[in-house]
Amino acid sequence: MPSVTLYDKEFTLYLEEEKIQNAIAKMAKELTEEYAGKDVVFVGVLNGCFRFISDLMKYIDFNAEINFIKLSSYRGTESSGKISDLMSLNTDLQNKHVVILEDIVDTGHTLDYLMEILKEKNAASLKVASLLYKPDAFIGKTKPDYTAFDIPNLFVVGYGLDYDGLGRNLNDIYQIKS
Ligand code: IMP
Ligand code: MG
Repeated sequence: MPSVTLYDKEFTLYLEEEKIQNAIAKMAKELTEEYAGKDVVFVGVLNGCFRFISDLMKYIDFNAEINFIKLSSYRGTESSGKISDLMSLNTDLQNKHVVILEDIVDTGHTLDYLMEILKEKNAASLKVASLLYKPDAFIGKTKPDYTAFDIPNLFVVGYGLDYDGLGRNLNDIYQIKS
């Protein structure tokens, strides 16, 4: 089984590139059925979403705005619970159909924080699409509406997800070795 080492930790291959791409294409199809022809804004949550959003957009062929917000909550391999808003959203969401794009929903704290901010913007609708979702870690209020993979409560890296800044460039997703 292929593995990677980042700092002091070893990770083993968990989701291969092809599997990720197929799941993203499937999600794009569902989003197209729901949103084509509507006034849509995709809001990517940086940094983790950059690979996911870029691949997802390859399969989205209806008109839509794309914007970004930057939040941070993780320190090492654990959610700190404290979220900082590092780059605010600078676009008008009034009467727009907003789709938040997350790399992963873990405890759900980040999403709850984001929903609080975005709820005040008078969007026509507000939904969440996340590449990964950890149902066993989730203690939040808002579950993602669209997910590509439900995964166990284990730390993962690759395809945008990092361990203290490293691993985002990996094309596959790797799971921490227990
Ligand atoms: P939450 O607030 O606990 O839901 O965590 C949300 C953010 O923490 C995600 O958007 C990720 O950036 C990061 N995160 C959560 N789980 C993992 C993981 O397994 N690997 C890398 N980053 C993660
Ligand atoms: Mg994130």
